[in-house]
Amino acid sequence: MDQRYPGFWDSLEKPVIGLAPMDGVTDLACRRIVALHGRPDVLFTEFTSAEGLFYAPDRLLRDFEYEEAQRPIVAQIYGHRPEDFYRAAHIVCELGFDGIDINMGCPSKSVTQRNCGAKLITVPDLALEIIRSTRQGVHDWASGQTLEGLKIKEKVLKVVRAMNDQRCRGVLPYAPTGNRQIIPVSVKTRIGFDSVVIEWWIEILLQEQPVVVSIHGRTLKQMYRGEADWGAIARAVQVAKGSGTLIFGNGDVRSLEEAGRRITETGVDGVLLGRSTIGNPWVFRDKDRLKASLKQGTPCDFPNPFVAPAERFRVALEHMDYFLKLRGDYHFQSIKKHLSGYLSHFPEASVIRSQAMRARTPMEVTSLLKV
Ligand SMILES: Cc1cc2nc3c(=O)[nH]c(=O)nc-3n(C[C@H](O)[C@H](O)[C@H](O)COP(=O)(O)O)c2cc1C
Repeated sequence: MDQRYPGFWDSLEKPVIGLAPMDGVTDLACRRIVALHGRPDVLFTEFTSAEGLFYAPDRLLRDFEYEEAQRPIVAQIYGHRPEDFYRAAHIVCELGFDGIDINMGCPSKSVTQRNCGAKLITVPDLALEIIRSTRQGVHDWASGQTLEGLKIKEKVLKVVRAMNDQRCRGVLPYAPTGNRQIIPVSVKTRIGFDSVVIEWWIEILLQEQPVVVSIHGRTLKQMYRGEADWGAIARAVQVAKGSGTLIFGNGDVRSLEEAGRRITETGVDGVLLGRSTIGNPWVFRDKDRLKASLKQGTPCDFPNPFVAPAERFRVALEHMDYFLKLRGDYHFQSIKKHLSGYLSHFPEASVIRSQAMRARTPMEVTSLLKV
């Protein structure tokens, strides 16, 4: 079995500048806006439970909805049982994703209490078995293994078929038994559990040759406190040198200018941006110019682009309308984290932002932002 099958990662121009996975943030509506107005090199879904996919398919598979314009798109899963990853890999392949990413970085108690997420750093043998199982699932699917053959419940199959039909309506008819391609397996992790052990941990992960390891420069214990340790990420790059695995850095990058600086200082093959993209899809806009600058060795002078308030309001409403169309007005409060991002970084932003935060209905936001 070709372990480090690079798939689409090979064809991306390096360094890769991508949208980090964020639960409750990088949903279908958010990814649509980011793909349209920012065009990062790659997008990740929110993480989804490899086990839960089979019990609550409606809710969990919704995390895996995407549109063709969002490619290349990688589905992220978390869990603790290798057999769940084996089966979940089949679903991810069947849904036509470009890649599958294993979460070994989530610090949340509800995730880590069962050896999931960042807890996997403390059980390396299990982490490696999970990578192997996921890859085996991908390969078996590519060799013709069907979801029916795996005895996956009819209610899950129905959701998968509906998602494929919906996505491909008007495009190409979905051909579940044709064009079965292997997709690459990657990992996203942290620099340690309660202390920084990245050199040891990266050596372990490299045994299974994931095509990419994305590293958030904090330990689990740090959660989101303090600053991301890019020195630790740089050491991981050194350990991985020559292995063929790409190392992406992540943590506290607020602009392409900062991304460029981190790339130059550490030698990472890519950077993922998370929180700085919320209500700010434009942060990716100059990524091709950044790559050209890096190639030529000229200074990376790319602060966040100034986006006029009228454009911010227009895109904020576009995002809100699409989100509510998908999820219903009942979920109105969830859009406020995005609104808060859109309504920042211009003079007097705080006034309109606090009005939007107090809004009780989508109508109120619309009349506030309509220009
Ligand atoms: C609200 C939120 C949800 C997140 N959900 C995920 C997730 O589902 N999967 C994952 O690997 N990381 C997740 N992360 C971590 C981010 O991908 C990223 O590693 C972290 O935010 C640091 O990058 P940043 O400083 O650019 O935001 C999440 C972070 C936030 C703030």
